[in-house]
Amino acid sequence: MTRDALLTVDNLSMRFGGVVAIDDVSFTAYGHEITAIIGPNGAGKTTVFNCLTGFYRPSGGRLALNRDGKSLRLERLKGHRIVRDAGVVRTFQNVRLFAGMTVLENLVVAQHAVLTRASYYNFGGLLGLKSYRNAERAAIGRAREWLDRIELTARADEPAGNLPYGAQRRLEIARAMCTGPRLLCLDEPAAGLNPHESADLARFLVAIRDRFSIGILLIEHDMSVVMGISDHIIVLNYGQKIADGAAAEVRHDPTVIAAYLGEEEDG
Ligand SMILES: Nc1ncnc2c1ncn2[C@@H]1O[C@H](COP(=O)(O)OP(=O)(O)O)[C@@H](O)[C@H]1O
Ligand SMILES: [Mg+2]
Repeated sequence: MTRDALLTVDNLSMRFGGVVAIDDVSFTAYGHEITAIIGPNGAGKTTVFNCLTGFYRPSGGRLALNRDGKSLRLERLKGHRIVRDAGVVRTFQNVRLFAGMTVLENLVVAQHAVLTRASYYNFGGLLGLKSYRNAERAAIGRAREWLDRIELTARADEPAGNLPYGAQRRLEIARAMCTGPRLLCLDEPAAGLNPHESADLARFLVAIRDRFSIGILLIEHDMSVVMGISDHIIVLNYGQKIADGAAAEVRHDPTVIAAYLGEEEDG
């Protein structure tokens, strides 16, 4: 099988005043693969996601998402167009659900950014346009499919904030998937999960990759998850890329081991 480059990051830099959070980082993420981004705390991992998804405008470099034979420059797109046109979605290091909305509503609301492709969305609701109603019905259908996949159908009408932590994390991933992404960016999805839940999560991510044939960018500290499911691993340390390769290569790389030993001393 040929590997198609889904995301090409070239010479990405991000500075905050005097702090260089990302220093000239380049890497490629492929379609149908799980690409892990690992590294000690403060290495710049979340900042990469913030640049990819339009939260920060990079200080330098180019971020190209290859879709349908076209190359979209993410650093030039607004956040909602990054979701809608480029198909890049993310989750956050800390759970960011709408806690007061129901589980189902969280999944429907997420699709509105995509539904607005039909620009009548806002007024369509008021006017009761047929196309609006069809789009809304499709959104609810997709939401229900995902609830089924994450085994939360029975709790569809409860406030999302009532769910146990592990279920909230699954719901966040489902919410991102409801938008039909090409590249799913997950920021420490296993944080706070017990070993059993982490193993479930790992299987879930593999199933998403295989079934929907999308690329996954995975920031994760849990090495059992990373080493078990990543097709490819990128290691950052102090904003620089220090390794890039298959799990078997990266885990024995002395530079990588040294970077992590430093972290343990920090506690
Ligand atoms: N908005 C910001 N303003 C100033 N410094 C920031 C900002 N965001 C991140 N940083 C700094 O960039 C570095 C990388 O942070 P981050 O990307 O969150 O690391 P990681 O996710 O790998 O733990 C850290 O030194 C952090 O303090
Ligand atoms: Mg982070």
